Amino acid sequence: EEWKERGAAVGVRQELDRNGNHVQRFVKKGVKDFNFGRTLGEGSYSTVLAATDRQTLKEYAIKVLDKRHIIKERKVKYVNIEKNTLNRLGDHPGIVRLYYTFQDERSLYYVLDVASGGELLGVLKRMGTFDEECARYYGAQILDAVEYMHSRGVIHRDLKPENVLLDDQMHVKITDFGTAKILDPPRQPQDSINGNIPFANQNQGNAIDGSDDNRANSFVGTAEYVSPELLTDKNACKASDLWAFGCIIYQLLSGRPPFKAANEYQTFQKIVSLDYEFPKGFPPVAKDLVERLLVLDPAKRLTIEHIKNHQFFDGIVWGRGLWKQKAPRLK
Ligand code: ADE
Repeated sequence: EEWKERGAAVGVRQELDRNGNHVQRFVKKGVKDFNFGRTLGEGSYSTVLAATDRQTLKEYAIKVLDKRHIIKERKVKYVNIEKNTLNRLGDHPGIVRLYYTFQDERSLYYVLDVASGGELLGVLKRMGTFDEECARYYGAQILDAVEYMHSRGVIHRDLKPENVLLDDQMHVKITDFGTAKILDPPRQPQDSINGNIPFANQNQGNAIDGSDDNRANSFVGTAEYVSPELLTDKNACKASDLWAFGCIIYQLLSGRPPFKAANEYQTFQKIVSLDYEFPKGFPPVAKDLVERLLVLDPAKRLTIEHIKNHQFFDGIVWGRGLWKQKAPRLK
């Protein structure tokens, strides 16, 4: 198997040349450049460790992936998707940034932003439910990050409170792009005003990650948040992330996802028949938003622009200011 290392970031090292002059050398970072600390998370193919850059003392989360296990389980494609999408989503405060990748004989290493607040799911479980102010705050940041990834031609396909991490300021950082779909730069219409801006328009494009091959038509994502179109047409689109976003808003306010059953099959049955209910006391404005997101036909779901203008988000100032805002006290 081939582990591609294109486009990896490098560190700069000051060295003396043979004449005693200071020169800059560009050196690829490696395992030896970090001190590894405690385990932050564990997945089936990876472990995330806290780590510190020995030179800068900057803290990171390093995802360590076991090559043999990944090859044996035929997940090579997914680790490459994760790296390629993260490289494409380089610069947004709401998305975990990939700084370096390197490897040794046993493992692949992804050096990521550390999110010391842990998973949104953990915070929600400790609180039980969020009030409307907290749901609006976290919801707005998730939506802003989703808008950015869609504008860069990436569909996440597995949005859920476990994949929404929080940094030390309780700002959102979306992670886990291993099942994302990368869209082609859409064909540019001759008369488009966005003519030379890649990914600037709303065209869906085509998958370029090989995910339209037969194997990739198998289920990706998590049962409770999977969209009906993925179950019926085996096809995910940008609006599939907005279905998951609707499930997340519902969950933040009620403490549980809208579609939940004893097993995956029954969960899927509930999803495709839109079989869910709002608990008593669910805020009416949020109920209206969720009802316009949990719509079976993806073409009839609210668009991101409509969601931003929905009454539920009244008072939110969209844009970079979202990321300077102080988090509301959890209640
Ligand atoms: N767990 C998984 N990824 C993480 C990250 N980037 N920061 C903190 N904990 C994590």
